[in-house]
Amino acid sequence: MSTTTASVATEQYNYGIVKKFAIMAMIWGVLGMLAGVYIASELAWPFLNFNIAEITFGRLRPVHTTLVIFGFGGSALFATSYYIVQRTCQARLWGGKLLPELTFWGWQLALVLGVITYMAGYTQGREYAEFVWPIDLLITVVWVIYFAVYAMTLVKRSQPHIYVANWFFMAFILATALLHIFNNLQVPVAWNSLESYALFAGVQDAMTQWWYGHNAVGFFLTAAFLGMMYYFVPKQAGRPIYSYRLSIVHFWALSFLYMWVGAHHLHWTALPDWVSTLAATFSILLLLPSWGGMINGIMTLSGAWEKLRTDPIMLFLITALAFYGMSTFEGPMMSLKSVNALSHYTDWTVGHVHSGALGWVAMITIGSFYHLIPRLWGTTLYSTKLVFVHFWLATIGVVLYIVALWVAGIGQGLMLRAFDQYGNLAYTFIETVSFLHIPYVVRAIGGAFFLSGMLLMSYNIYMTISGARQPASDEGRDAVAAAAR
Ligand code: HEM
Ligand code: HEM
Repeated sequence: MSTTTASVATEQYNYGIVKKFAIMAMIWGVLGMLAGVYIASELAWPFLNFNIAEITFGRLRPVHTTLVIFGFGGSALFATSYYIVQRTCQARLWGGKLLPELTFWGWQLALVLGVITYMAGYTQGREYAEFVWPIDLLITVVWVIYFAVYAMTLVKRSQPHIYVANWFFMAFILATALLHIFNNLQVPVAWNSLESYALFAGVQDAMTQWWYGHNAVGFFLTAAFLGMMYYFVPKQAGRPIYSYRLSIVHFWALSFLYMWVGAHHLHWTALPDWVSTLAATFSILLLLPSWGGMINGIMTLSGAWEKLRTDPIMLFLITALAFYGMSTFEGPMMSLKSVNALSHYTDWTVGHVHSGALGWVAMITIGSFYHLIPRLWGTTLYSTKLVFVHFWLATIGVVLYIVALWVAGIGQGLMLRAFDQYGNLAYTFIETVSFLHIPYVVRAIGGAFFLSGMLLMSYNIYMTISGARQPASDEGRDAVAAAAR
């Protein structure tokens, strides 16, 4: 075994770009979740708006969603996809130094411009696509380069096989390109104005937006993170994926079904009823591949369950899969028209979002990063104990968040539809609002738990990276070399 394996890997592959994206994912993660805790607190204690337009809930909300989805999630996906494609294809990233760097700087610039424009009050008013049109153009350029870099690395691979994680990443890149372009077809008011009008109107506009919205969930927040899962779960478990065949079925079924379900966001609206029914049907079907994928990930650990007692990274990865299973069970239930009639205008939806976003997306990223970062810097993790502490802070945080919002959402839904014996509404709207106060406080506390875990992780990662510059002990060097093989 060579002790120089890690440095050879660094020369053979472009790890520089992976490192940059990984660090930015951490920074955006902390900032985005800080914004999340702040807006959660504004909902619990509205005085926190301070009558300052730039920090009101309405303006900070897209700052939160953009930073966590595209800043944290997006940068983590760039980092892990660039790492995985190089490792599994045994090829250096295509595009020399320049093209991957352009994706990095372009993506970060879009995020910074997004935050500034939202706080200044500019938005396209489309959820998860609030960027004004010039930023949309910048993102399009970045995405085309990303596609070229990724696809050409696959073309240049020195391995005959394309590992399944790359399939998920490719689907994510292609679907996101399609969604981004069609949902942002806008006519600017003038070339020097940030304002624009959507090309579509009325129900077509709503349909386009939610076709985008749900596929952002399906391909950005799900397929791509499954790519991460299919690489890092077997790696951390030290065993092959439970069933490669199941992973292929999972891939095709998921890619086919997701595209149809957007209309479940528009039940009981002007949308034709058959479109709603179609979306609900495909949403129920989606349970099958989703659970197939979850089982595939979890069963990879079969025969090595004791790792859950000793390895906190494994705990993060497996708990993420459990939340993936839970949110992909809850989602299909909420897509039934009768359940949606209760859940739609309530906080149940927001709870569902975060069991997916915190439980699945954030936890799978955190687990993968604890595995990845020491390897990138050719060292070992500063403290495994802190990872255990982080795991519990994160788990308590998610549970507080989603339980509070189940109480808030179901309570709110039932209050909004309750009648007295004369057929009048039993509760005034303001009574439903004051009912939400306590769950909102609990949600903000849950968020603070999750955020404190992220801060702990930042410290652990910082110490890991700065420790990497010191000469490693023999033991550390052996561990690194073994991990890099
Ligand atoms: C510290 C952790 C977090 C806290 C406290 C938090 C808090 C919040 C709050 C208060 C809202 C607004 C809800 C509303 O409009 O009523 C929200 C929305 C949202 N957040 Fe988070 N968030 C956190 C982490 C995340 C993460 C990591 C992601 C994604 C990876 C995420 C994705 C979203 C999305 C997609 C929405 C929009 C939900 C909807 O429209 O139903 N959040 N968050
Ligand atoms: C089989 C999988 C899933 C299905 C069928 C599903 C279904 C649904 C349904 C029916 C809604 C409520 C729509 C409404 O009433 O407006 C919803 C909202 C949402 N779900 Fe899921 N869900 C699934 C998995 C996930 C996962 C894994 C995540 C996150 C990673 C997620 C993120 C979201 C988001 C962000 C929204 C809120 C959109 C908004 O109103 O802003 N979903 N989902």
